Amino acid sequence: MSSPLLFGREITMRFGGLVALDNVDFYVGEQEIVGLIGPNGAGKTTLFNVIAGVYKPQNGAVMFRGRNIIGLKPHKICRLGIARTFQIVRVFPSLTVFENVKVAASNSPRHGKESINEEVVRLVDFVGLSGKISFPARELTLVEQKLVEVARALATRPQVLLLDEPLAGLTPAESAVYTDKMRRLRDEFGVSIFWIEHDVKSISRTCDRVIVLNHGKKIGEGECKEVLETEEVVRAYLGEKIA
Ligand SMILES: Nc1ncnc2c1ncn2[C@@H]1O[C@H](COP(=O)(O)OP(=O)(O)O)[C@@H](O)[C@H]1O
Ligand SMILES: [Mg+2]
Repeated sequence: MSSPLLFGREITMRFGGLVALDNVDFYVGEQEIVGLIGPNGAGKTTLFNVIAGVYKPQNGAVMFRGRNIIGLKPHKICRLGIARTFQIVRVFPSLTVFENVKVAASNSPRHGKESINEEVVRLVDFVGLSGKISFPARELTLVEQKLVEVARALATRPQVLLLDEPLAGLTPAESAVYTDKMRRLRDEFGVSIFWIEHDVKSISRTCDRVIVLNHGKKIGEGECKEVLETEEVVRAYLGEKIA
């Protein structure tokens, strides 16, 4: 088997005495949707920060398209093709939807004949916000702002998209809209998605495979159905409200 698009080996990340990631291995294949779950404080966001170059781990490697990206700056990693969205939305509230996406597109290398404006319009249309393209982002609902973030991430032309708890704060109906868009995104743009979610049920509905962290350690990996029923995973979630 050829090596996966994105993978990590033996990643350890400490903050002082706290071991946020303890010898973690993971991989994300081409056009795969992989869920990353675990209780609060498990180390999920820290793993994304390591992949995105925000933190440099004390040990381990993150390989993307055959090269170790540890030590590269976040903007460089983004340019190589890894984009992310955040737990708390980070759109520019006073800029319009169009402008928000254009800022991201303007910082990306151009390919082909499509102009920046054409690309922005296409991405806004893909996320379903054509009707609000001239609205300031602050006038959008939370799910719409999250979709603006997705369009901004797509504007950087990623091969891998890192989503950090995108469904937090959404109603079940909004979650379904978002989840459906992510599946289409994988099919139409050919991206891989690495997806953190606290809610185990939405992950098991959406992902091809799941990785479970607890106290910085990987305690499960594989097909959702099987992994989520293992004793160790069930125990990690005991006492937590599983929505
Ligand atoms: N910059 C940091 N400095 C110190 N501790 C941190 C930092 N970032 C995360 N942590 C700690 O690392 C652990 C894992 O955090 P995090 O990755 O945010 O968990 P999760 O996203 O799974 O809820 C937590 O105990 C958190 O307090
Ligand atoms: Mg987190």
